[in-house]
Amino acid sequence: MGRGMRKPVVAANWKMNGSLELCEHFVANLVRPDYADVWLFPTALHLGSLAESFRDCDISTGVQNVWCEVEGAFTGEISASMVAALGGQLALVGHSERRASFGDSDAVVARKFKKITEAGLIPVLCVGETLEERESGLAFEAVQRQLNAVEEAWDSPTFSHVSIAYEPVWAIGTGEAATPAIAQEMQTFIRNHVDQNSTGDSEAVRILYGGSVKAAGASELIAQEDIDGFLVGGASLDVKEFNQICEAVKS
Ligand code: PGA
Repeated sequence: MGRGMRKPVVAANWKMNGSLELCEHFVANLVRPDYADVWLFPTALHLGSLAESFRDCDISTGVQNVWCEVEGAFTGEISASMVAALGGQLALVGHSERRASFGDSDAVVARKFKKITEAGLIPVLCVGETLEERESGLAFEAVQRQLNAVEEAWDSPTFSHVSIAYEPVWAIGTGEAATPAIAQEMQTFIRNHVDQNSTGDSEAVRILYGGSVKAAGASELIAQEDIDGFLVGGASLDVKEFNQICEAVKS
């Protein structure tokens, strides 16, 4: 079947950056391609503004993180259902910065994943190995462990409604994206894993690549069979560059 059936996605992970001015700048200048889905992940504080501005068009918005309960005494946290109520449609889960700096273990990621799904949001599950894991030949094992943890939280795992972002930790924010061959190899592995461990059509699951994606180099990456789009960090703060990345996924 292959890539043809999967609409490309270009997603912006603003991390702890941005402002209301940047939101307005994006609303005024973002291209709205019909050949790709565009997903924006601003800070939770800026979600409402962006979701409202893009309500009547095909740009979707979401958050970078939620807590794994619906409500309660969890000072400082937000829930997936609150995101949905505000007009958000998506949530990142398992980003390596959350895993490394905020205690998001595989078990916590699985719980968050479940709550995101239950709230009717589309989860974008981020997986990826560290440099150490890659250098010691454990890259595939690390990604498999991250996928397994989420699958085990389901009675009958299905990834049909989910996107996965392969983000090798060594490529995030380093300026050195994975080569197309390395990304393709892991993304094929992820698709095969999903095929063998869940119900639903693994050919329909969109698997994004993330880690130092820029306009330069985006065409070579998207040309790979199992790279269905990008999760863009640093370069997504510049609307011109982000528009060029959108342009690059046009087949
Ligand atoms: P980067 O970040 O594009 O700045 O490397 C990607 C990400 O962390 O999602």
